[in-house]
Amino acid sequence: MIISYLAGQKYMNHFRYHDGRLYAEGVCLTELAENIGTPFFCYSSASIEDNYNAFSHAISSLDADICYAVKANSNKAVLSTLSRLGVGADVVSAGEIERVLSAGILAKKIVFSGVGKTFDELCKALLYGVRRINIESFEEIEILSKAAEATGCMAEVAVRVNPDVDAKTHDKISTGRQEDKFGIDFELAKEAYALLREKHALKITGVAVHIGSQLIDLNPFRRAYSRLSDFAIQLRSAGYEITELDLGGGLGIAYNNELVPTLEEYAAVVSETVGNLGCKLVFEPGRRIVGNSGVLVTKVIFIKEGSARRFCVVDSAMNDLIRPTLYNAYHQIISVREPNKSAISSRMDVVGPICESGDFFARDRALPPMAAGDLMAVLTAGAYGAVMGSTYNSRSLAPEVMVNGDKFALVRKRFTVEDMMNLESIPTWLEKESKRPVE
Ligand code: LLP
Repeated sequence: MIISYLAGQKYMNHFRYHDGRLYAEGVCLTELAENIGTPFFCYSSASIEDNYNAFSHAISSLDADICYAVKANSNKAVLSTLSRLGVGADVVSAGEIERVLSAGILAKKIVFSGVGKTFDELCKALLYGVRRINIESFEEIEILSKAAEATGCMAEVAVRVNPDVDAKTHDKISTGRQEDKFGIDFELAKEAYALLREKHALKITGVAVHIGSQLIDLNPFRRAYSRLSDFAIQLRSAGYEITELDLGGGLGIAYNNELVPTLEEYAAVVSETVGNLGCKLVFEPGRRIVGNSGVLVTKVIFIKEGSARRFCVVDSAMNDLIRPTLYNAYHQIISVREPNKSAISSRMDVVGPICESGDFFARDRALPPMAAGDLMAVLTAGAYGAVMGSTYNSRSLAPEVMVNGDKFALVRKRFTVEDMMNLESIPTWLEKESKRPVE
């Protein structure tokens, strides 16, 4: 049985109930939990592949490349899965470049974005020979120019413009308004191109835009891409050779029952707005590729009966998945054991053990009867889940598992408190003190 929340979604999902238990492809999550303990993230490689292929198919009539936004999920196994499909990468740090290269994605398929790239990071990117650097400020042009001189490497560049379009998504993940720190305002962008033209080691190839994440309305894309198109035409008439348009990422997914645009609808907006410029297009999807390809499995510690609320206290917390508290994000939560059809739901908060009231996965959520020891799956946790994890409260970083058919592999082991403490040390001046017997 396909889980009901998937109804209406046009892309496949590989998490289903089978024989009364939730499976990721051919692997039973109860068995995985027994094997590696809880909490853990579980990814379906078939789902990642399906999502990538669907994206690729939808844009097949356009001259376009996909540069997966690594920040969404940078696990090496995820990157290797995508690398085999021929994907490029959108990165925002030297660390992400290292990961991408180690997964076999070629440097010439990497686009380097980000609002605060350092001289060292830029030198590294140039020496590796990345495809393009997306400039986000005048200051960065000067630093990049110095990096190009220092390394003797030529850099292909685009300016990330800020189109002043409200993406109509959560405030913290809107990036295309004037008050946001990203990109260079349209009014100033021409000056940025003029400055770039003076830098002999920098070659202008295009224009880039990214207005935000989890967009479920296509109108902001339409507005931003139309402005981008007008701007590219202006640049061309000013003598710049504009051959690439980087359209960023941001296309949303269904976390609950919300209607999201299909890939075909999105591709039609792209075609309508920038399709006739004869430019190579670049897409940077992250969430749309991995979001529904992962779940977070957690165990119920107990049900706490408060006087105003019932709390389902689980062994995972905001350090594993910060999205609910940071963005008020909704994630479906289901029981790993398939609930009885006659089971009566009751409302509760699903919370973790961290000492903050913001440590919750769901508030006032109708859930089937749950008891200590039961497993729950927090759905659609493949994007911006594990990558945003922390060890707050000295909690382990949750391990990550990848499933492929009936095979599974631990693709990141649990980072334990011992691992944490091994990175720390006591300064010499405290050593004596620490040996003093406590009275
Ligand atoms: N390109 C650039 C330049 C970006 O900044 C981002 C995301 C993407 C592409 C990919 O966007 P996507 O297709 O995944 O929406 N932590 C937040 C999301 C932050 C997105 C940051 N930038 C969340 O959990 O919702």
